[in-house]
Amino acid sequence: MKTVLKSHNCGELTAKNIGEEVTLSGWVACVRDLGGIIFLELRDRSGFFQLVADPQINPDIHAVFSKLKTESVITVKGKITKRPDETYNPKLATGEVEVYPTFAQVLSEAETLPFVLDDENVSEDVRLKYRYLDLRREFMLHNLTLRHKVVTAMREYLNGQDFLEVETPILNKTTPEGARDYLVPSRVQEGKFYALPQSPQIFKQLLMVGGIERYYQIAKCFRDEDLRADRQPEFTQVDLEMSFVNQDDVIAMVEGLVQSAFKAAGVDVQLPLKRITWQEAMDRFGSDKPDTRFGLELFNVTDIMEASTFQAFKDVIAAGGTVRAIKIPGIAGYSRKDMDDVRNLAISFGAKGLAWITYMETGEVKSPVLKFLNEDQIKEIQTRAGAQNGDIVFFVADKPKVVFDVLGRFRLYFGKKLNMINPDDHALLWVVDFPMFEWSDEEGRYMAMHHPFTSPNLEDMDKLKSGDLGNVKSIAYDIVYNGTELGGGSVRIHSPEVQKEVFKALGLDDATVQEKFGFLVNAFRYGTPPHAGLAIGLDRLIALLCRTDSIRDVIAFPKNSGAKCLMSDAPGEATLQQLRELHLKSTVKK
Ligand code: AMO
Ligand code: AMP
Repeated sequence: MKTVLKSHNCGELTAKNIGEEVTLSGWVACVRDLGGIIFLELRDRSGFFQLVADPQINPDIHAVFSKLKTESVITVKGKITKRPDETYNPKLATGEVEVYPTFAQVLSEAETLPFVLDDENVSEDVRLKYRYLDLRREFMLHNLTLRHKVVTAMREYLNGQDFLEVETPILNKTTPEGARDYLVPSRVQEGKFYALPQSPQIFKQLLMVGGIERYYQIAKCFRDEDLRADRQPEFTQVDLEMSFVNQDDVIAMVEGLVQSAFKAAGVDVQLPLKRITWQEAMDRFGSDKPDTRFGLELFNVTDIMEASTFQAFKDVIAAGGTVRAIKIPGIAGYSRKDMDDVRNLAISFGAKGLAWITYMETGEVKSPVLKFLNEDQIKEIQTRAGAQNGDIVFFVADKPKVVFDVLGRFRLYFGKKLNMINPDDHALLWVVDFPMFEWSDEEGRYMAMHHPFTSPNLEDMDKLKSGDLGNVKSIAYDIVYNGTELGGGSVRIHSPEVQKEVFKALGLDDATVQEKFGFLVNAFRYGTPPHAGLAIGLDRLIALLCRTDSIRDVIAFPKNSGAKCLMSDAPGEATLQQLRELHLKSTVKK
């Protein structure tokens, strides 16, 4: 669109525009004084454009340009001309043309920037403190542009499938995701607090009770949890819910959605996606978000170790534990120190120890546990591992959760270290048949693995009623991309009886249920359609599509790992007056 200060965007001018009078505005990216003639690179969101000031032709313009500081904002007018062959720049989209301005004005002079925009080594702290400058970098503009394109594609897809976009409240009560809440004290209701939503979960289910049938929202969610590269305290979900559907319906709908998102980023996705059960994901990859771009699969040796004479492993098995193994090819030449490092790595991942068998290049077999195994057992391990000379097989014995976690992380570590991951591969898949409950050592009870409104597999109702909670499966599904959980969802409970059983299993009494989720449970008494849904972590999706490791790189104004905004210095202090109005007392000594 033409405006007073801009007839064209810098990056869009080509030889086709030669002869046109234009008004251009933007930032001074660089100024080069070549023996009197000044070449200036003007930048706006669309790209770069060359301006030239020749003191012989236009001394006024030359005078303005000679005093310019980079990153100042200027506006110029002039005619598009063809560049002489010597300055033709085939690398630049606008490299064939230039303007000798007849008018130039500084709109805003810039001070010297705290960092040079194209310095790739600038620290993230500095980038976040001056995020508005960081956003001028091509890489950030690219990421935000891709984010916009992907969100647009996803909206268009869902709009085309009869979804209604509905907003849900930010100030409300606790939601059931199970992370810590952000609380907002109420001024009007003394002693009461709102909780910021960890997701729109309850409201989207209420929208189904309300007859909306197909809902989506690009929703802000808030979780006060320990932050990592793929976690922010406030993040965005593409959240959806559907009525009169089963798991396959939601999966098919989300596959179309994900395909449209990837297409907007230039990646073709073949449908349908593979599905594997949670149990298979754990057994083969030691993870419920398996990166299937490379092998190094785990295998089970519990039966062999149970029959061995290795007491440490036998004790673990007798206590209900398991022994799993992984073969790492070609590392039999590791030194003693290398092996110590590997063992320490396993211990840092939570293992109590690490046992191994090394198949030396010479054909010799070496192992600290060899003495506990007979020849058949050694042979059987080699067969299961498919181990060749030069390989090492590692073993971990513990509770299944620990074994899978350690070996799953081991697998990822060696996959990266041995360069087994092709960054051009796209491994998208569904993990299905999650357990309904997960034992929490901390709480000393079973917790909902997804959330308490997730439907158990109805075939497992007997187990639910008899308290065999470890074996109840749920109708929950996660979509996983290259080893990252992109999204998760479930079929919801719509029967009050089933819901009651689940609350009972979770140890939630009626009073607690009423206090926490009463408005949802009550709503279900008035005609509830069967419903199901899912939420995709938008920031994670975009980060993966942009091939950056950190979701901070795809969020305009993110928080650092201390949940702080380095730019605004949030969170800040409240005045005593504010605290008083909110009926709060500060325990911080000044
Ligand atoms: P869930 O808790 O699995 O499901 O969240 C869905 C997706 O949101 C992303 N995500 C995050 N992204 C960035 N920072 C975080 N702190 C963070 N936490 C989660 C992940 C995750 O897969 N209400 C349910 C969905 C449903 O059942 O429909 C829910 O929130 O990519
Ligand atoms: P030990 O006989 O206790 O010295 O153990 C022999 C080997 O088994 C050592 O290499 C230990 O690190 C290893 N080991 C001991 N416990 C475990 C375990 N739970 N899982 C894997 N390896 C173990």
